[in-house]
Amino acid sequence: MRVSAITSVLSLAGYAAAIGSLGFDLGVQRNSDSACKTSDDYISDFETISGYTNIVRVYASSDCNTLENIIPALKEKDFKLFLGVWATDDTHYAEEKTALSTYLPTIDASYIAGITVGSEALYRGDLSASDLVTRINEVRELVQDIDGYSSTPVGTVDSWEILIDGANSDVITNSDIVFANAFSYWQGQTMANSSYSFFDDIMQALQVIQTTKGSTDITFWVGETGWATDGGSYENADPTVDNAAQFWQESICGIRAWGVNTLVFEAFDESWKPVTSGVSGVETHWGVWTDDGTDPKYSLECTFD
Ligand SMILES: *[C@@H]1O[C@H](CO)[C@@H](O)[C@H](O)[C@H]1NC(C)=O
Repeated sequence: MRVSAITSVLSLAGYAAAIGSLGFDLGVQRNSDSACKTSDDYISDFETISGYTNIVRVYASSDCNTLENIIPALKEKDFKLFLGVWATDDTHYAEEKTALSTYLPTIDASYIAGITVGSEALYRGDLSASDLVTRINEVRELVQDIDGYSSTPVGTVDSWEILIDGANSDVITNSDIVFANAFSYWQGQTMANSSYSFFDDIMQALQVIQTTKGSTDITFWVGETGWATDGGSYENADPTVDNAAQFWQESICGIRAWGVNTLVFEAFDESWKPVTSGVSGVETHWGVWTDDGTDPKYSLECTFD
């Protein structure tokens, strides 16, 4: 009696004190010549990131031979990967599955933290919820048949407002892991309201995921969040280094202090990206580091570090 009471108090205290983990979303093309990153490029990325975390996420497996090329870097630098599988179109999706079955057997499953099928596929309307469910289950079957991968979690990542839509609840039910993306910048928020809005978005998503799953014992991450440091304003949101630094402190450190794991979009500026329509220039300035920087653009220390 006494022992179990103490144990439960301790585990409660432990839960309250747990800080959410940090990871980074990572682009797979080089800025110098927009070529696909090589294993050496990933090793150099990981050297820069390793002062802060050893967890990264990529969006696809076959594009740019990402899985093949990143595996030697994961091994060399002992990094863990959230691996994306692009779920559309059929040819591309087939190539993704081939990459999984070809390259996952060449690395120990402990390096692969989880697999996300689709990246905002529902948000873009690329797939129906039921087609995404089919693909999540196909990928799980394929991956969990690979030697050592029987317990690798497979799920998806989408925007918070998609996840709280009851029409998508089968996606949550059929996923081992569900990550929610939320960008106060793209909601046009002022800095004063940006962390309120971010917490509100993520807590709504987390609550719906927990309710749909009927459990709080789930692995949850913010899949993408961040603040751009340059480019055009979006409604009330201004991309500046000071604002990105403030967003880091209030929202990223803040939600990790609440115990929520967070993947930050994104590690490095992607200056290779074409400046397309929409908000001028902002797409190339989401990096916490510049494209070749070794020091971050602003302090990444949180008060709990
Ligand atoms: C702050 O954000 C929330 C939603 O995230 C919104 O409902 C509210 O109107 C915003 N407040 C201000 C003052 O912009």
